[in-house]
Amino acid sequence: VLAILFTVFFSYLLGSLNSAIIVCRLWKKQDIRDYGSKNAGLTNVLRVYGKGPALATLLCDLAKGVIAVVVCRVVVHKVMGVEFFDDPHFIGYVAGLCVMLGHCFPVFYGFHGGKGVLLAATTLLAIDPLTCVCALAVFGVLLAATKYVSVGSIFAAVAYPTFTFILQRFVYNGGCAVVPNTLMGVCICVLIISLHHANIKRLMNGTENKFGQKKAAVK
Ligand code: G3P
Repeated sequence: VLAILFTVFFSYLLGSLNSAIIVCRLWKKQDIRDYGSKNAGLTNVLRVYGKGPALATLLCDLAKGVIAVVVCRVVVHKVMGVEFFDDPHFIGYVAGLCVMLGHCFPVFYGFHGGKGVLLAATTLLAIDPLTCVCALAVFGVLLAATKYVSVGSIFAAVAYPTFTFILQRFVYNGGCAVVPNTLMGVCICVLIISLHHANIKRLMNGTENKFGQKKAAVK
């Protein structure tokens, strides 16, 4: 119980340090949630403020995702000596879900954050790089084909539990806690897709922003 409590609180609080909000406040003295799609995430930072702040956001989210997974694994397995399902992946998925919850509903910023796609990728990179590469490939293909980041994000979210299951069941030959890990992936997928409801509406009525298209009003 202590191991899970540590993982949940540490990851949630770390996730609540929303990189997009912090970078834009420090760099541009503005709240990214007032501009563009109003989402506190990499795509909107790139759209509104360009490459510099976007790169800083990317690096911060990369560090945040990797730190959450690595710290939780070390503390739970090495310091506390606790194992779940005999599988080091599992605690990484729990940390991954909680750091995303913090990022999307940050306690420090009125519970209004981003959509968690980049963080899902960076935590997955630390949990299992091969699954991450497969999900990123799906993202890349869909983005290239449609020019909509949201379409790439939604399909990559579906790819996350799908590849978690396929690789752990058939490639790693069940050496991992296949079902619990896949279920964590399903939670992450559902979270990401539900946070894209406005994008899905825009896609359906043809008003979604295409990648590379600047959106509005930076004062
Ligand atoms: O990762 C978020 C992306 O899928 C959509 O972002 O700003 O276009 O709503 P945005």
